[in-house]
Amino acid sequence: MTMPSRLTITQPDDWHVHLRSGELLATVLPFSARHFGRAIVMPNLQPPIVTSAQAQAYRAEIQALLPNDSSFTPLMTLYLTEQTNKADVKAGFEAGMVSAVKLYPAGATTNSDAGVRDLEKVYPVLETMEAIGMPLLMHGEVVDPSVDIFDREAVFIETKLIPLRAHFPKLKIVFEHLTTQQGVDYVQSCAENTAATITPHHLVINRNAMLVGGIRPHYYCLPVAKRESHRLALRKAATSGDKRFFLGTDSAPHLDHAKQSACGCAGIFNVANTLAVLAQVFEQENALDKLEGFVSLHGAAFYGLAPNPRRLTLERSATAQAIPERVKLSQGELTSFDPMMPVYWSVNA
Ligand code: DOR
Ligand code: ZN
Repeated sequence: MTMPSRLTITQPDDWHVHLRSGELLATVLPFSARHFGRAIVMPNLQPPIVTSAQAQAYRAEIQALLPNDSSFTPLMTLYLTEQTNKADVKAGFEAGMVSAVKLYPAGATTNSDAGVRDLEKVYPVLETMEAIGMPLLMHGEVVDPSVDIFDREAVFIETKLIPLRAHFPKLKIVFEHLTTQQGVDYVQSCAENTAATITPHHLVINRNAMLVGGIRPHYYCLPVAKRESHRLALRKAATSGDKRFFLGTDSAPHLDHAKQSACGCAGIFNVANTLAVLAQVFEQENALDKLEGFVSLHGAAFYGLAPNPRRLTLERSATAQAIPERVKLSQGELTSFDPMMPVYWSVNA
C-alpha cells in the first residue's frame, strides 16, 4: 500500500479541553480555534463554573476573544458539586447554554476541591440529566490515599462507575481521558451510551517518558500515563473505528514555572500539534482511514450534533516537523507537547 501524503477530513472537534481564562485563555484559544470546529470546555476555573449563568459569562469571555470570522464554537460544561441545583442544570441544557456536566471527585486534580465527595448526594441531579439526555463527563479516578496512583482509574471503575451505571442505566456517560486497558475493556463492554475520550499524549507516551533519565514535568498529567501495555490498548481502541472512542485533547496549559517546580502542576499543553501527532499515530497503526471517525465523527454523534460542515487537510512531508515553539505570556512561558518521535504530518494552513 502506498502511503497517502494528503488527507482531507471533516473538520475535527475537541471533546475535552481546558481553555482557562484571562491572558492564558487569550493565548491558548487561537490554537484550538485554528483547527477545531467545536470544543467541550472544562469548568475547573478558580472559582469553578457551577451555574448556567457562570457558564454563559465564561462563554461570552471566550467568544469575545475570537476573531469575527471564526466559526469555533465553545460548548460549555458545569462543574458538579454536592450543591448543584438540578433545575439550573436542566434550564441551562434546554437553553443550549450548557452541553454537559463534569464530575470531579473532590481532590482528584487541578481545582477539584469543590468536587463531589459522596456520589449519592448528586443522584437527584443525575436523575434529571438521565431524563433529559444530558451527558455526564467523568474524571474517573478514586482519591483514596491508600490507592496507588497508577491504580486509581481501575479502582474507580470497580468501586464507583459500575454501581453508578447500574443505578442510571440510561444516563449518557463520557469516561474522560482514558488511560488503562481496564478502561478500554469497560467501555467496550457497555452499551453505546457510554463513551470515552482519549488524549493524544496517552497514545504516545507511557510513564517512562515522565520518569526515566530524570523527572520530566512536561509529561506529568492526570490521570498519569501508565505502563506500555496500557498505551498499546489505548492505541488499539482509538484506531479501531469503534464509535465509543473519540478525541478529547485534555490540553491543560500551566506556565513553565508552575510545572517545573518541587510540586509541579498536572497538565500537558498539546493543541498546537494534536492533529499532526494523531495523524502520525494513526499512520503507525496503519489506520489513517480511521482518523476521521476518531477526531471528527464519533464525538459529534455521541453528543447528537451534526459533523462540522468544513473540511481540514493534513499533509505529509518528507522531513519531520519542528516541535511547536514555546509560547510567551507576561508571567512566563508555555511548553508544548513534545511527542519524542518524528512527526511528518502537519495541518494545511
Ligand atoms: O492533567 C490534568 N490537568 N488533568 C486534569 O484532570 C486537570 C488538568 C488541569 O486543569 O490542569
Ligand atoms: Zn481535563
